[in-house]
Amino acid sequence: MRLDRFLVSSGACSRSEAQRAIRRGRVRVDGEPVREPAAKVSSTQAICFDGQPVVPRGPRYLLLHKPAGYVCAARDDHHPSVLTLLPAADREGLHIVGRLDVDTTGLLLLTDDGAWSHRVTAPRHRCDKRYRVALAEPASTADIVRLREGIALHGDEQPTLPAGVERLDAHTLLLTIQEGRYHQVKRMFGALGNRVVALHRDRVGGLDLDADALPVGEFRKLSPAEVAALG
Ligand code: URA
Repeated sequence: MRLDRFLVSSGACSRSEAQRAIRRGRVRVDGEPVREPAAKVSSTQAICFDGQPVVPRGPRYLLLHKPAGYVCAARDDHHPSVLTLLPAADREGLHIVGRLDVDTTGLLLLTDDGAWSHRVTAPRHRCDKRYRVALAEPASTADIVRLREGIALHGDEQPTLPAGVERLDAHTLLLTIQEGRYHQVKRMFGALGNRVVALHRDRVGGLDLDADALPVGEFRKLSPAEVAALG
């Protein structure tokens, strides 16, 4: 692994701070200062930052209550990234597990564990994602039947997998799906001639944002049991 990445993955600092510190000779590998951020190192080497041993940290799993107006991308010309809701040193190396649109709110997972993220998002793992959907037009009983059967989406070869549907009132449904296709929920209701006016994800697997009472814009670590249950 590159020396700068090693420092970042230990949580010692951000990538840019690591590169500055390395160039200034504040980082030693096996007792020798190394001033090249791209130098290759391994965890068997003794790496010290300002004289303190750097210990790699384990994988990270975070749950964030996403506010509207934030994008699920590292950078965007028009909106802040959800990553800016985390302290700078915690952002490095994290990726977003199953994106939400800029106007969608709710439960968002972040991790640096690619295999886990794949297990949470891959449809064959059947991890439920529940959305509270507010609609422009009332949802008919026929619409609910079609959602439960699976809907053909424009441009997709396969219809959507059968969804779980609960009607809260004429314009509001709880929709549970196991896939995460591009704009899936909005496209499902678009295919029914309706329009989503507000979308909130309240559950992923056994995680329940309402039970969590996590304020909007805040995040917390998942417990080892939560990580294991999801992935
Ligand atoms: N489906 C959508 O259309 N948007 C989201 O943000 C999530 C699921």
